[in-house]
Amino acid sequence: MVLSDCVVPAIASALKKSDGFEPAVGIVLGSGLGKLTTHIESPVEIPYESIPGFPRTTVAGHKGRMILGRIADKKVVVMDGRFHYYEGHPASVTALPARLMAAMGVSVIMLSNAAGGINPDFTPGDIMMIKDHISFIPNPLIGPNDDTLGPRFPSLTDAYSPRLRAVAAASASKLGIALKEGVYVAVTGPSYETSAEVRFYRTIGGDAVGMSTTPEVIAARHQGVEVFAASLITNVNTPDAPKGPSHEEVLEVGNASAEKLSLLFANMIASL
Ligand code: HPA
Repeated sequence: MVLSDCVVPAIASALKKSDGFEPAVGIVLGSGLGKLTTHIESPVEIPYESIPGFPRTTVAGHKGRMILGRIADKKVVVMDGRFHYYEGHPASVTALPARLMAAMGVSVIMLSNAAGGINPDFTPGDIMMIKDHISFIPNPLIGPNDDTLGPRFPSLTDAYSPRLRAVAAASASKLGIALKEGVYVAVTGPSYETSAEVRFYRTIGGDAVGMSTTPEVIAARHQGVEVFAASLITNVNTPDAPKGPSHEEVLEVGNASAEKLSLLFANMIASL
């Protein structure tokens, strides 16, 4: 088997559960960003535990359900809960949400995450659309390539669709949301960054740091799916600060500002 032993059966069983539903847009929700689910019309919820072969999410703030429905009259599939490398999943499993949505036929995948700001101009509650990434998480394409899915050596130039970033900028200005833009540094976690690492990530051009998203982006681009991703800045990392972030703080700021990000996603979907 080309993809990890668990990915192919999990996708097959999820497809069976989704019963021929053909979404146009796939959405992955990060820590504390579940509020977008309130924008879904006629939702059908499929808990991950009801999908044979599907891994479980083990992180507080990640629900573990797939939701099928409509936003702004477009058919969507939402993955409320993702799989992180730090949970012990192989890299190919961390890309499962993107693989599943691509198998369902979406042409656009929108991802959200909670991230720590490393750009000193950022403040908690900011939304940063991702224009590029630097990934320290192992690449989900490592292993034999399935040529039916995509090329052995896919390009990641323009991984974050300029077209969708323009749609986001237009939606944000319509909604009066200040939208930052920057480079996302993906790390394995689960420990937060040392002061030296924060300095390093700033030096190499990072604006925010988080523990997810890039494996899903890489798999989506491997399959030719257009990608948009945005980070909710839940905390700001300053070298030599007396105290680092906590998961509780990340969830709290995530919950307080998630509506802004949900409105942005919903408005973007309406204009696709
Ligand atoms: N570092 C890494 N991941 C994160 C952070 C952070 O400061 N905040 C939210 N996710």
